[in-house]
Amino acid sequence: MQGSVNRQRCAVSIAVIDMKKQKNAGLQYLIELGIRPAKDKNGVYLQLQEQLGKGRADELKKALWEETDAQRIYDIKNADWKTAVTFSGAYDGDFYRQACNWLGAHKEQFGQEILEVGCDCGIISCFLGRLLPQTHITAIDRTQTAIAAAEQLAERLQVKNVTFLCTDLHDLAAGQFDTVLSMRTMHENIADRNIHPSFLLLLEQAQLYGNAVAEYAERLMDRVRQGGNLISIEKGEKNPAFLGWLLNLHANGLTVLEQDYAELQCRMVGCDVSFQATIAEKRDVQSQNVYAFWCSLFPVDPDGYQFHGWAAETLLQNMTQDLQQLLTGAMIYNQAGEACGKYAAWTLKSRPDVVLYYQGSAGGTTLSLYEGSLQQAICQQIDTVLQQCRMQGLTVALLPQSGQS
Ligand SMILES: C[S@@+](CC[C@H](N)C(=O)[O-])C[C@H]1O[C@@H](n2cnc3c(N)ncnc32)[C@H](O)[C@@H]1O
Repeated sequence: MQGSVNRQRCAVSIAVIDMKKQKNAGLQYLIELGIRPAKDKNGVYLQLQEQLGKGRADELKKALWEETDAQRIYDIKNADWKTAVTFSGAYDGDFYRQACNWLGAHKEQFGQEILEVGCDCGIISCFLGRLLPQTHITAIDRTQTAIAAAEQLAERLQVKNVTFLCTDLHDLAAGQFDTVLSMRTMHENIADRNIHPSFLLLLEQAQLYGNAVAEYAERLMDRVRQGGNLISIEKGEKNPAFLGWLLNLHANGLTVLEQDYAELQCRMVGCDVSFQATIAEKRDVQSQNVYAFWCSLFPVDPDGYQFHGWAAETLLQNMTQDLQQLLTGAMIYNQAGEACGKYAAWTLKSRPDVVLYYQGSAGGTTLSLYEGSLQQAICQQIDTVLQQCRMQGLTVALLPQSGQS
């Protein structure tokens, strides 16, 4: 009897360990690859030294530290699998850990034929190959050295179900996949980087950003078969650029699975970086309110009287129908003609007793509700700010009385 109790206990504790292992699959993988996220650039250098020797580490430091061209950096850091894994791991280790955990938690969302776009040196491709041994993964990257390093890594890890191809997505032979995975590639496929949408209404900003990556989004999403999905992790804030990306998903017939959305907060060489992880399905019928989903990422306190950042922008966007009269307001432009601020105050149709006050500058955005009796004081404050702007040589363009933008 005693023995059977012990066996039971033992079985339970093994199950617990396995669950922990699964939950921390990312960490296990990092340990297996010898990846340790570095605290700063010097930490990256010390790891290169430890793994590759001082001479080679100095060579890489000289070649990589001052380099600003992303393509050159990829070419150099992917010289072989060890250099690639050490360098990328030291920089992006925390991202890999969290991405692996999130992918692991959603493994049932992957179909049989998978395309990974921008696989780099294959760290995630190999993780995925092992996670989903019954599937076949086509992992592509336009950097030749990255593909060579990825093939070496796959061989070391005995991963056999990944085919690596050196090609740009644009040149990939026709074909559709059950699942397309794309991580951190959007920013390298922006058609127009010269966008200054500051202080436009939010949806207009989102549209501008969305347009800049529309062609890439179309090519990416075209690779997803009907009923399949796009799994993506992109770096950014929950800002209008992300809203633009979501609008692109929608325009290409994809619906975001809202319950699977996650934000990965990573620590990378001493900086906090946020990543948006989404799964979107290509459906015949699609009726998603993308904007409403985006807004739900910024809970706005309905009883609040002051809102900051994107919550302020969201609220202002949503209140345009409620604006009664512009009391005073102006856009501010710097010497280069770029918008660098906006101040405005309105009365509201629904609340004649309050004044809505918008303050937008490089320091951030605030939207406040004040008692109506403060109307004059707020207008005076705006006038003072505008005068100071003029004295600093900035251009002040008064907003037309009929509109708010
Ligand atoms: C920032 S890295 C991200 C690598 C990997 N997905 C990750 O998250 O660790 C971007 C990679 O995508 C590749 N890439 C970017 N755009 C691409 C495209 N249109 N076709 C193929 N590869 C692309 C680059 O060569 C680079 O290796």
